[in-house]
Amino acid sequence: MVGFVPTMGALHAGHLSLIDFCRKECSLTVCSIFVNPTQFNDPADFEKYPSTLESDIDRLESAGCDLLFLPSVHEIYPGGLNKINKYELGDLETKLEGAFRPGHFQGVCQVVERLLEIVQPAKLFLGQKDYQQCMVIAKLIVLMGKEEILSLRICPTLRESDGLAMSSRNMRLNKEERIKAVQVSRVLKMIKEQIKPGDISGLISSAAFILADEGFRVDYVSVADADNLEPVEEWDGRKKLVALAAAFLNDVRLIDNMIL
Ligand code: PAF
Repeated sequence: MVGFVPTMGALHAGHLSLIDFCRKECSLTVCSIFVNPTQFNDPADFEKYPSTLESDIDRLESAGCDLLFLPSVHEIYPGGLNKINKYELGDLETKLEGAFRPGHFQGVCQVVERLLEIVQPAKLFLGQKDYQQCMVIAKLIVLMGKEEILSLRICPTLRESDGLAMSSRNMRLNKEERIKAVQVSRVLKMIKEQIKPGDISGLISSAAFILADEGFRVDYVSVADADNLEPVEEWDGRKKLVALAAAFLNDVRLIDNMIL
């Protein structure tokens, strides 16, 4: 059984844990590294995306990955970058990440559809850190009519010892920013610990205020229905929720989420 871990490289322990899950469940583990130009709504973010190919290869070898797929832009986009499909993602595309990164999820679908066509896996392994992306790709699998033959495995977010969610973009943080960055996970933890049934809007806005006060430029802090990302401000105490945040520290954008 072929298992697949798509990545954009700059691999860290979070990616390697996906390789590990994949190896346990599949007889062949395939990883791809491709920094996908069509999913970057901000060209500067694309240019600065970290690239550490030599050490990525070493790490994949030590982790026991069987096959690394390193496609060229032409291999993924044979018709050119402007000849692209349109995916019906509904309001998943206009909420949260979708609202702040227009076109991002279309680009993600573009590359993931092509990678799935080439690799033909039976299982696809993604990290919960990109919660909304996992929902988008689940939808893509349905749009591709592959839900019977491809199962999506969403694996837990790995965190640094202080709680910061592992991310390739963390490599771009300087020392001072790295210390501050932990606040994103702290405010989510605060929501998780303090949430009670009833009006939760005050708790959400105080989390956003803490980030802004620490010098973050906050895109959003939100508590949403974990199944459809509808924002929740009044909690009945039963609905499964997820708290999500996205914020910039200077020009580095950090995202994180916690199931409540
Ligand atoms: O999460 C990522 O690294 C990327 O969005 C993915 C899924 C590899 C598509 O480029």
